[in-house]
Amino acid sequence: MFDPSGENPFDLLDQWLNDAAGSEINDPNAVALASVAEDGFPSVRMVLMKGRDDEAVHFYTNFTSRKAGELDATRKAAMCFHWKSLRRQIRLVGAIERVDDVTADDYYNSRPYGSRIGAWASDQSSPLDSRATLAGKVEEFSRTYPENPPRPPYWGGYRLVPHEMEFWIDGESRLHDRFRFTKSVENGWSAARLYP
Ligand SMILES: Cc1cc2nc3c(=O)[nH]c(=O)nc-3n(C[C@H](O)[C@H](O)[C@H](O)COP(=O)(O)O)c2cc1C
Repeated sequence: MFDPSGENPFDLLDQWLNDAAGSEINDPNAVALASVAEDGFPSVRMVLMKGRDDEAVHFYTNFTSRKAGELDATRKAAMCFHWKSLRRQIRLVGAIERVDDVTADDYYNSRPYGSRIGAWASDQSSPLDSRATLAGKVEEFSRTYPENPPRPPYWGGYRLVPHEMEFWIDGESRLHDRFRFTKSVENGWSAARLYP
């Protein structure tokens, strides 16, 4: 029987990501990221989880983007992983911080050259008049940085520091297993089984 109540939820996240790496066709680390605008409207899009620390999961993006504007303004977000091949889901809710420069540089420098130039060339989420404009910017930045482009000042990472993590496994007749971990300052993580 699935009962992770004694476990650290980040270890369980690692295990499930590892399982998904063996079963998903693409991007086992893909996760839906929800942010909220100051007018209260939520917006959601996929990002790739690119690492974690003891308290947070990390992802990277362009600071000019819609998501970055909302994350920086509210400092709140939610995430949802879903692995179709495993019939499992993990939900997270928490606070948002930017990752430090060293962590962001390390990740940026690990990316292929084309992706690093792409980060320079994209004014993410702003209107683009044509693909030719984008191709021109890629060419221009490739000339500026023929090798080892530095991380653009408008590109970096965020940490989602969850205070809630919920694990869901598909069950027969829709009698799914759900465990919600909640974090308190005094007691750390504790888990409760939920009705499906
Ligand atoms: C599987 C998948 C992974 C993605 N990963 C990222 C990512 O890690 N970072 C990112 O900025 N955009 C990523 N995108 C693109 C975003 O979903 C989105 O289109 C883009 O970030 C602009 O979102 P925004 O306008 O809400 O800021 C990904 C898209 C898909 C489908």
